[in-house]
Amino acid sequence: MLQFHVDETLCVRCGDCAADCPAGIIVLNDLPEIPDEERCYRCLHCYAVCPTGALSILGNDPAQAETEVPELPSPAQMGNLIRWRRSVRSYQDENLPPELIDELLDTACHAPTGVNARDVLFTVVRSKEFMASFSREIMARLSELEESGKLPGGLAGQYLAFVVSAWRTQERDVILRGAPHLLVTSAPKGAPCPVQDTHVALATFELLASSHGLGTLWDGLLMMALSVCPDLVERLGIPADHTIGYAMLFGKPAVQYHRPARRGPAKVNMLG
Ligand SMILES: Cc1cc2nc3c(=O)[nH]c(=O)nc-3n(C[C@H](O)[C@H](O)[C@H](O)COP(=O)(O)O)c2cc1C
Repeated sequence: MLQFHVDETLCVRCGDCAADCPAGIIVLNDLPEIPDEERCYRCLHCYAVCPTGALSILGNDPAQAETEVPELPSPAQMGNLIRWRRSVRSYQDENLPPELIDELLDTACHAPTGVNARDVLFTVVRSKEFMASFSREIMARLSELEESGKLPGGLAGQYLAFVVSAWRTQERDVILRGAPHLLVTSAPKGAPCPVQDTHVALATFELLASSHGLGTLWDGLLMMALSVCPDLVERLGIPADHTIGYAMLFGKPAVQYHRPARRGPAKVNMLG
């Protein structure tokens, strides 16, 4: 049940809710109505767009909502955030406050999802202590595979052989890189856009983390390790019916960058 309710004393019959509904299911019968509730995306656009706060849905009451549009980052600030973000491969040996991690996740989960599925699962390692033991497990499993000649062929095999060698010769974990935290996004295989949703969630998380001065790393080597050692996926508690989007390390950086990299110009295929 959507609990769709329109306060007739506040509704000005402007039709904005119907015009903005992506499913096109709001009918204007003097007051707006939703005859076919099953087709609602639950996106809350009708609730957000209503100029007079006449409309409540799914327990969202406009009387309780923020009304002031907050100050948003300027284009220059957003541009700086994007240009100064770097992949961080060395981290301070310190856990982030749990409240900060919760705040990052509760904001990142506002990222868009296909058909508003909102099914992305954020699997998070909260402590460097778990990371240290996970690191030993990963290295033990990869060393076993390498010794028994069971690493895959091709590029993935070459990278994983390099991982094992760095561990064996220097006790250096180039997968988890001493980061105190790990985030892996996944979504049910049957969701409308599980791959895209999980990537968008991570990209959103990364920019937000950067705005807090945190470092992040998209961890392709961990993805390779997880694909050859499915038991490690289980160890992370990721449901078997989920597609894993990607893995990302995060924490306070132990490295500082003094200038951004020049990347442009963008490769563009411009039309019109
Ligand atoms: C999908 C993806 C996977 C990546 N995997 C790794 C990885 O396993 N290890 C690593 O050190 N860097 C990894 N990176 C980081 C890239 O090497 C990095 O983004 C690139 O060198 C540009 O550097 P910058 O991010 O500092 O601008 C990955 C990046 C992406 C987007």
